[in-house]
Amino acid sequence: MVEDFNKIAAVILAAGKGTRMRSQLPKVLHKVAGKYLAQHVVDACHEIVGKTIIVVGHGGEQVQSALGEDLFYAWQKEQLGTGHAVLQAVEYLTSEIETVLVVCGDTPLLSTATLSKLLKKHEEEKAVATILTTYLTEPFGYGRIIRNEDQEVLKIVEQKDGTPEELEVKEINSGTYCFAATYLKEALSKIKPNNAQGEYYLTDVIGLLQKQGLKIAALATDDPAEIMGINDRVQLAQAEALVKSRINQKLMLQGVTIVDPEHTYIEGTVQIENDTIIYPNTYLQGQTKIGKGCEIGPNTVIVNSQIANEVIIKQSTVVESELGEGCQIGPYSYLRPGNKLGQNVKIGDFVELKKVSVGNNSKILHLSYIGDAQVGTKVNIGAGTITCNYDGEKKWPTIIGDGSFIGSNSNLVAPVQVESKAYVAAGSTITKDVPAGSLGVARSKQENILNWTSKKNKKSRE
Ligand code: UD1
Ligand code: CA
Repeated sequence: MVEDFNKIAAVILAAGKGTRMRSQLPKVLHKVAGKYLAQHVVDACHEIVGKTIIVVGHGGEQVQSALGEDLFYAWQKEQLGTGHAVLQAVEYLTSEIETVLVVCGDTPLLSTATLSKLLKKHEEEKAVATILTTYLTEPFGYGRIIRNEDQEVLKIVEQKDGTPEELEVKEINSGTYCFAATYLKEALSKIKPNNAQGEYYLTDVIGLLQKQGLKIAALATDDPAEIMGINDRVQLAQAEALVKSRINQKLMLQGVTIVDPEHTYIEGTVQIENDTIIYPNTYLQGQTKIGKGCEIGPNTVIVNSQIANEVIIKQSTVVESELGEGCQIGPYSYLRPGNKLGQNVKIGDFVELKKVSVGNNSKILHLSYIGDAQVGTKVNIGAGTITCNYDGEKKWPTIIGDGSFIGSNSNLVAPVQVESKAYVAAGSTITKDVPAGSLGVARSKQENILNWTSKKNKKSRE
């Protein structure tokens, strides 16, 4: 290993247009498993390099604002080839940088493990350049690795420039390399666009260095998926399937049951503890953490949520909230952002919550909208309860004290407070606070008109 990662820089090439995506969006900002293609590459490099430089061009501002300010951006105004692209990053390859990893921004499956192996090989072989290669039965389109009889790498030949004999070679250039910084910089200044595409090829650096009698090494990976570059949306979907299965496999090996991994969509940022069961067609996204022994789904979407142990989230529920141990949610509930539920809270069907805190052991079981509210412990909110939190201009809070009981089909017109152990009669529209231990009734008194049916019938016969 290169012992000091501050001596290593990554140069990520992301200036190309990505024409075959047929998109308004720069290619590297398309997503796989909820993460930008280029972010996958940045993350793969993150642990092993001290500095990351992205070469941007097409949609560069968008790429910059998407990937953030922790990285260095080199601008390539005109896409004159991969060698020209790396040349734009040279100003950031300052004297402390000894080793440079060059990676394409559209290879989301490339792993840190493989990049580490490449660096290790580079060190062991004392090479000035080490190429990540693989063997393909269909090598069409890729640069070929040309070796001599002693199997030493001589050069890389592009598809459009190769002789028929050279194009027979099945070992291809993945587009990922490791270079000794000083030799890279020197060779880049010498490459010429004398080729079929009239481009400055980064691959020509290999031939130039070899001709100087310097050591070129190669590491062949046995997983061609790792080097898969995304050029169109068919490949995007293939990459999605591969990344998804990697994520799901890792979770299953950690003790999470995924009933149907092919139809379970979990982003790499999500953490799940063991003995949790995920039912099909569930989407777990963003900074979501799920504890032990939970049951999630089917058909459920959970985004940026913290979910404690033993929580059950039944089918067709959408959650962006914090849930305490033993909560039971759904089916068909909608927990919008900003809710914080205590332990053993039950939220049932067709209940929408927004910015609500709910104390332990409270229940909101049917057909309610509760927003901007503070609900105490052991509260029971009857079916069809609405917090009228919006007066057309502003949002107002509702407070419901511990142990209180809200009768069905009540409206709580905020700002309003139902104090602890208070009752609200079913069908009330509550506009004034209800004191502790009291009953709030706000509906017209019932009147019975006796014998009304027979009077009505008589009238209609006349
Ligand atoms: C390149 C390699 C080829 C290798 C293949 C692997 C060269 C000359 N060839 O070919 O040997 O098998 O990758 O996928 O390097 N880019 C820029 N600026 C440019 C040109 C390209 O930033 O001026 C970026 C692209 O956005 C892309 C990457 O460099 O991320 C590779 O460019 P691409 O045109 O796809 O190279 P290939 O022809 O596929
Ligand atoms: Ca390519």
